[in-house]
Order: sequence, then structure tokens, then C-alpha cells
Amino acid sequence: MVQAFDHLLDATIEHLGALKSDGHSSILMEDESMELLRKMVHSSKQKPRTTVEQKLKPRQNPIPETRKLDATVSVTPSQAIELAQEEKDLIGRVEDWPDLAPDQKELAMAELRKRAEECQRCSHLVQSRTQVVFGVGTVHADLMLVGEAPGMDEDREGKPFVGKAGQLLTKIIDAMGLSRDRIYIGNVLKCRPDTPGRSFGNRKPTPMEMQTCWPYLMEQIKIIRPRVLVALGTTAVDGLLGEKSLGITRLRGRFQDFRGIPVMPTYHPAYVLRNPAKAIKRQVWEDMLQVMEHLGMTVSAKQRQFFTK
Ligand code: URA
Repeated sequence: MVQAFDHLLDATIEHLGALKSDGHSSILMEDESMELLRKMVHSSKQKPRTTVEQKLKPRQNPIPETRKLDATVSVTPSQAIELAQEEKDLIGRVEDWPDLAPDQKELAMAELRKRAEECQRCSHLVQSRTQVVFGVGTVHADLMLVGEAPGMDEDREGKPFVGKAGQLLTKIIDAMGLSRDRIYIGNVLKCRPDTPGRSFGNRKPTPMEMQTCWPYLMEQIKIIRPRVLVALGTTAVDGLLGEKSLGITRLRGRFQDFRGIPVMPTYHPAYVLRNPAKAIKRQVWEDMLQVMEHLGMTVSAKQRQFFTK
């Protein structure tokens, strides 16, 4: 019933939004309809909202559809902010999240991927994207890397970090003694930011796009429950740490906290490519050494020396 009400409310909001953008500033409403609406709002408020944890209980559908993840309609800026805030209030801390069995994780991620791939929420990106770039790797990863947004190569291939910056990232992952399929890689934004009037180049996601896409990243993190997150560059840091964020230069190299999960902020590989000084590479590498140590990985003497000579 609450879900039906939510759908009805969404449809009404959407309809009113369309009227408003057509220049209407008021609508006529029968007293009877107004009374009915009041009653519905009242009875909806009486019912406690189902928490994400309660919704996660059924085994066969651990991550059910929720209003916040309704991917079928585009959203206005105020809706995006409101929904992201609702989600932020609901997400809690890692110790409160359901500990999904391996098969539940696979199922939950597959369902989330399906919803993301059908997402219509940013209508401008729906029009410009070739495909949604959801994420790659294993849901059983201890380590999750978060980047900014897909670029042209990623949009074409449907996988994050496959262009030049991605190739550098893959080298870093290999140097850590890991591989792309043993970790998870995702982005703050799942669609390539459009560049109207230009057929090349990239742009940063807007705050509105980041808010709108935020629930997908959150659900990915909740399903995986990585032991460590790495935020690659400013957008990832802002996406994960939000208003607390002091910027990548001040934060890099020092573990931060995302809902009880340690986050290591480091430079984005594209920044490293633009600034090829060995000192920058060394800084990124020192950040990764800390990540390896946190994960209890063995660090060889050779690995410790990378980019010192
Ligand atoms: N840069 C990112 O932040 N993400 C990608 O997937 C590719 C480039």
C-alpha cells in the first residue's frame, strides 16, 4: 500500500513538474480530491517506513526495488537532493548492514546492475550514453576502487577504467600483487557525462548528477562490504565523504572513514598521467602500500622501493 502510494505520489509529482515547466503556476482541484489526498498523506505518515535492513531480509530478493532507486523516471534537482538525503539517513554504518551470503551478494549485485542499466533518471545522459558503465570485478572483494565517471572508452566498452588512465590503474593494481578480477572497480557516476557540441573530451559530473547516481554506488558498497575503499581523485572523495571533504591534496595518504569502512584518498590516475613527476607516482604508491598493509598483504622489499630511484 505504501509502495502504491509512493508510485502514485511520484506520478503526481512528475505530472505537476511537467505542468510547471509548461508555465502553469497553479492548478484547480476539487475539494473532494484535496480531502482524499490529505487522507492518503496522513495514513502514509502513520506507517513506519521500512528500513533498508528490513527490506533486505528475504533471501530471494535481498535488495528490493525502493522508491529511491526507481530508475524509470527522470528526477528534478530537488527530488535528487531529497532522495540522496533520505538514502544517506538510511544507510547507517557497516556493522548495521546485512551480512549477505556469497550467493545473495551475486544476486543482489545482478539485480542492482539490471536496474542501473535501465536507469532513466538523468534524461540528458540517457540520450548521450552508449551504455551504462556499472562496475567490474568480484562482489567478494576486500578492496573496492572508486573513480569519477566513465570516459569515451569506457562508454564504448561498458567497463570502467579501460582507457589510458585505466591502463595505468591496471598497472598499479598488478604492482600491488592483485588483479582487476580480485577487486571491484566502480565510479561515482555510471554514465559518461555528456559534452554537448563536442565529440571528444570529458567533463566532471555535476553535483546534481552525483546526487542522482549516489544510491547506486551506496548499494554497491553495501553489497560488497569491502574492507578498504580507495577514492581515486577529487570527485570520488567528494562522492564518498561529501561535505566533510577537504580536497584530495590535503586528504591523500590519510585514511578517512566511510560509514565504518576505511577510505584511502589518492590521486586519480589521469592526474598522474598529466603530472608525470616521479614524486607524484611515489605518493600514489605510498598510499597503495598503506592499503596493502591494512589488508594484511605481504609487502616485499622490492615493492617498498618502487618509485624511489
Ligand atoms: N576515469 C574514471 O574516473 N573512471 C573511469 O571509468 C575512467 C576514467
